[in-house]
Amino acid sequence: MADDTTDTKSSNQMWGGRFASGPDAIMEEINASIGFDKKLFAQDIRGSIAHATMLAHQGIISADDKDKIVHGLNTILSEIESGNFEFSRQLEDIHMNVEARLATLIGPAAGRLHTARSRNDQVALDFRLWVKEELQKTEQMLTGLIAAFLDRAEEHAESVMPGFTHLQTAQPVTFGHHCMAYVEMFGRDRARVRHAIEHLDESPIGAAALAGTGYPIDRHMTAKALGFREPTRNSIDTVSDRDFAIEFLSIAAIAGMHLSRLAEEIVIWSTPQFGFVRLSDAFSTGSSIMPQKKNPDAAELVRAKTGRINGSLVALLTIMKGLPLAYSKDMQEDKEQVFDAAESLELAIAAMTGMVRDMTVNTARMKAAAGSGYSTATDLADWLVREAGLPFRDAHHVTGRAVALAESKGCDLAELPLSDLQAIHPDITDKVYDVLTVEASVASRKSFGGTAPSEVRRQIAFWRARN
Ligand code: ARG
Repeated sequence: MADDTTDTKSSNQMWGGRFASGPDAIMEEINASIGFDKKLFAQDIRGSIAHATMLAHQGIISADDKDKIVHGLNTILSEIESGNFEFSRQLEDIHMNVEARLATLIGPAAGRLHTARSRNDQVALDFRLWVKEELQKTEQMLTGLIAAFLDRAEEHAESVMPGFTHLQTAQPVTFGHHCMAYVEMFGRDRARVRHAIEHLDESPIGAAALAGTGYPIDRHMTAKALGFREPTRNSIDTVSDRDFAIEFLSIAAIAGMHLSRLAEEIVIWSTPQFGFVRLSDAFSTGSSIMPQKKNPDAAELVRAKTGRINGSLVALLTIMKGLPLAYSKDMQEDKEQVFDAAESLELAIAAMTGMVRDMTVNTARMKAAAGSGYSTATDLADWLVREAGLPFRDAHHVTGRAVALAESKGCDLAELPLSDLQAIHPDITDKVYDVLTVEASVASRKSFGGTAPSEVRRQIAFWRARN
């Protein structure tokens, strides 16, 4: 272990034995990860405390040394938390920064901490702990977003709006139904998060460099102390594996895609041309030269953050795809991708939750739009099938002629006089006008999962019981 005369500049205090001189400046720069992996300090210290406790329990180090190590590590934890820790790039990463400081604090006993472990299992542990906590946070944030949607859906279970396909008016739906579509998406994202937590809930520590260790360690003990379900089963896989990080990134990318579609809809809906929603001042900005403008910047940035998250996923997949087992230094590049994506995802979910909760819904605009564009044409066709016994294909044809006629007259279907409709098909009666309103159209779609307010309320109840 380092004594007072060891100079980290001339040769590294962790492996100085074999090295006569220190690294070139560029080597130090490309090699160091402390600039970003210092984020793992709490996990690193927790892992080391669990490891040292296990080593003492197994009689591998003395209880006295363990006490010194644990005390020293707790001191370092408060030094870092209070901003009184000097990180050194010469010490490369968080693991060596902590260990070097421990040596200064407690002397030679510090050198016993790294018994039966390697930085390979250490970093795998720290990073897993970090990703696990991030997934737990994501789970909670998605629950908050779902709750926001459930409230809006309940409020608007009967508010009609146009449903779109190809962004062309298709059939009337309720805004509550549309909100519940997002609840389904974010519900699946949350299920993916829960699965990912289960997948990664195995403790890497004790895999050592790659082959395990000859010391009589107890990996079940450290796994339990660190809140993992069990230890990982294969030491080579343990130090090679980063799929827990890639899984986080893919979940983030999928959730990001959902958030981005929602963002896009909010951008469209908040244009003066649509006017379906008005964003609160808290989630929009003005223009420096055009006083009339209210810009949906938060939604646009959610859309853009999704691009960043996708970039991180592709970057880490690409970093990992060519690596032989077990550890390679390439893997150090995993962290920035995950940290950056996590920050983007958290921001995107938080901003979206705020926007959904705060936005004003203009039900009058939605209703007017719902009735335009011949959105009840399918209802007319269905009426002809049900009441006049026409095959659907014929009914479709008759309806098409009615739409063409309305279009040429510049009116809605409901505004065509009965004589016009009867000229197209003699079996049409004035009862048909009951289904040509958007409310009737929506109320009739009672099939399971459909847009009728009664069905939307059923969907809300399903999710309320699960949120
Ligand atoms: N800073 C390294 C990383 O993030 C820690 C592991 C280093 N292991 C090694 N064998 N050089 O991956």
